[in-house]
Amino acid sequence: MGRLLVTGGAGFIGCNFVRTALSATDHRVTVLDKMTYAANAASLAGLDPRRCELVVGDITDAVLVEGLVAEADIVVHFAAESHNDNSLEDPWPFVHTNLIGTYTLLEAVRKHGVRFHHVSTDEVFGDLPLDDAVKFTETTPYNPSSPYSATKAGSDLLVRAWVRSFGVEATLSNCSNNYGPYQHVEKFIPRQITNILDGVRPKLYGEGANVRDWIHVQDHSRAVLRILEAGVSGRTYLIGANGEQDNMTVLRMILRLMGQDEDDFEQVRDRAGHDLRYAIDGRRMRDELDWVPRFTDFRAGLKQTITWYTENRDWWEPVKASTEAKYAKAEQ
Ligand code: NAD
Ligand code: TYD
Repeated sequence: MGRLLVTGGAGFIGCNFVRTALSATDHRVTVLDKMTYAANAASLAGLDPRRCELVVGDITDAVLVEGLVAEADIVVHFAAESHNDNSLEDPWPFVHTNLIGTYTLLEAVRKHGVRFHHVSTDEVFGDLPLDDAVKFTETTPYNPSSPYSATKAGSDLLVRAWVRSFGVEATLSNCSNNYGPYQHVEKFIPRQITNILDGVRPKLYGEGANVRDWIHVQDHSRAVLRILEAGVSGRTYLIGANGEQDNMTVLRMILRLMGQDEDDFEQVRDRAGHDLRYAIDGRRMRDELDWVPRFTDFRAGLKQTITWYTENRDWWEPVKASTEAKYAKAEQ
């Protein structure tokens, strides 16, 4: 049995990972989370307190981090400022948490000889053309577009440097866009589902031609667990599920699944610097780590996600109005 320190475990992917780790292994988990606007204590409700504890704190707090790392066998690092639109309004929290936070964790694992797994995004590679089937691979050069993706790219490079220069034992993963339960309503899919539940027209940026490569969050969680089991230190793993869809198609699918007219949405101002297309070539996960996604039917996964938001209004309603107010302010 191991002790996992999971940063950002009260956020979307982190809480799903904690749930998967507790049910699939006998690890104990300490979550370190600052409980920013993106976190929700209810996302960890009902977990066995003998196996999972929440420490509220900041990954840039070197003293706190060192104490927690010293007691851990593995650090799994999800904590980040994660939303592109927010990074265009105010990049500073992204620089602080994603860069200084990752640096702080790396110094602690270096000092205590603790294994590290860094959770990152395919957005570090920039975007791909719409009219070409090319995909990201582990050797695609970094070319991030937004302050969010630039700080994630910087954090990835810090991890690689700490492996090479200091011999830290670390793995990295770059995953495509996640969907599923417990995702903050600022993000595309839950924003549109909860708008429809609130009787508000969904909001599509620009023409909706941008393509995202969707993966169910439980598949991402299983992939990270697999890397913890069998990943090779210093190696980067791209995680994807061949889930490419353009935004217009996803939005129309949501509208139809929720019994609405598929044209009942609003086209709003496009995001500045909006990446065109992301797509993952996930062969390394399959060939080297024998991992394949289980959620291969996107429509079925979306339907299950719609059901979750419909049945868990208490989870998202308290933050819905403030999220939409933030969007309305940004549009002015
Ligand atoms: P999220 O915004 O839902 O959760 C982030 C969590 O980190 C929150 O609980 C927040 O309170 C915590 N946090 C933020 N700053 C902190 C700090 N300074 N100290 C401690 N905790 C802090 O994000 P998410 O969507 O769950 O993403 C998790 C990770 O996965 C991120 O590193 C992100 O870059 C990466 N990722 C996300 C996606 C996606 O589709 N959402 C895809 C690939 C990779
Ligand atoms: P998002 O969930 O913010 O993820 P990312 O920026 O990491 O890809 O957005 C997914 C896609 O949906 C992206 O192309 C932007 C678009 N989008 C909309 O069309 N409307 C919205 O209200 C939001 C939040 C995003």
